[in-house]
Amino acid sequence: MSDFTSGFWSAYVTAITLVGIVACLLLLWITSRKKVASTADNTTGHVWDGDLTEMNNPMPRWWMWLFVMTIVFSLLYLMAYPGLGTYQGGLGWTSKAEYEGEVEKANRELVPLYAQFTSRPVEEVAGDPRARAIGERLFMNNCAQCHGSDARGGKGFPDLTDGDWLHGGSPAKIAETIRGGRQGSMPPMAAAVGTPDDVKNVANYVLSLSNAPHDSVRAQLGKSKFTACAACHGMDGKGNQAIGAPNLTDDVWLHGYGEQAIISMINNGKTNVMPAQAGKLTDAQIHVLAAYVWGFSNKPVTAKP
Ligand code: HEC
Ligand code: HEC
Repeated sequence: MSDFTSGFWSAYVTAITLVGIVACLLLLWITSRKKVASTADNTTGHVWDGDLTEMNNPMPRWWMWLFVMTIVFSLLYLMAYPGLGTYQGGLGWTSKAEYEGEVEKANRELVPLYAQFTSRPVEEVAGDPRARAIGERLFMNNCAQCHGSDARGGKGFPDLTDGDWLHGGSPAKIAETIRGGRQGSMPPMAAAVGTPDDVKNVANYVLSLSNAPHDSVRAQLGKSKFTACAACHGMDGKGNQAIGAPNLTDDVWLHGYGEQAIISMINNGKTNVMPAQAGKLTDAQIHVLAAYVWGFSNKPVTAKP
């Protein structure tokens, strides 16, 4: 309702609601006054199935008062809660505030549960089956839609289980990624590389870095052009986790495998965003999730007794 710029719709809805309630009252009043003409034996004269007759008794009083009470209730309710157009209601209740209150309460109740995990390092929590169970549920609810329920990702969404990291795989880096999100940005590079033929040559050079099938003559020609890429991917093509530039030598492909995929990366560039979770998840939840994700590609450390 707050989306409307004029008060008209608010007044319109309010009027319909109130007229409806008054109409109910009126109906009650009219029906309580009007008596259906009855026959001498106090039936309406209708007969069904041979001998089934309809008595002409008035509605019981208590029943009628129930109707009146529902009307009084509805009026009191509409005074207290938002229900009439944009009127906020006397109690100032909103569904948003109620939801936020419940989330806050649940988070408060979870503090002692999570305390046993937040007091221990990620490497150790990763080996705790209870933490893993919580981590799995958090992952299913918050991460699986992009990274897949098995965390193996897909095109554009990194595999979190392969030990290959864009932004770093230490517990601290993983927690940092989850908390603050990440953005990987590669600008279109075709102009810096040269002609479409040069682009194709560099693409073959990139393929040669991981011993993927390639045209070795083109790869040789493209090698010198790779200097345009070295600023981010490194002279050796092994990438730079500080800016999320992937290792191009490990045969792990986030944006597709083969000459065409690489040419299209060089021509179009790519901006890829992992959304920050800090507003959605508590620090404790991020700690448990970092342990869960770290545990995919690392052996958990058992606590010393
Ligand atoms: C809307 C989709 C989306 C959601 C939801 C999402 N991610 Fe991501 N995530 C991405 C993308 C895209 C990247 C890659 C960013 C890049 O290319 O630099 C990424 C990157 C990451 C990385 C870094 C991988 C690396 O190689 O360094 C981690 C760790 C990660 N996500 C964990 C999570 C966890 C845990 C959750 C759930 C709390 C989550 N993500 C939710 C899309 C998502
Ligand atoms: C300004 C930094 C920068 C430069 C310069 C740059 N890249 Fe990238 N490149 C990136 C980043 C960051 C990504 C990862 C994008 C993402 O997060 O999805 C990337 C991704 C790629 C990928 C996809 C890798 C995969 O796993 O699918 C290829 C291929 C690639 N770059 C090749 C090149 C080539 C070839 C050049 C030079 C012509 C180049 N890049 C220049 C930053 C750069």
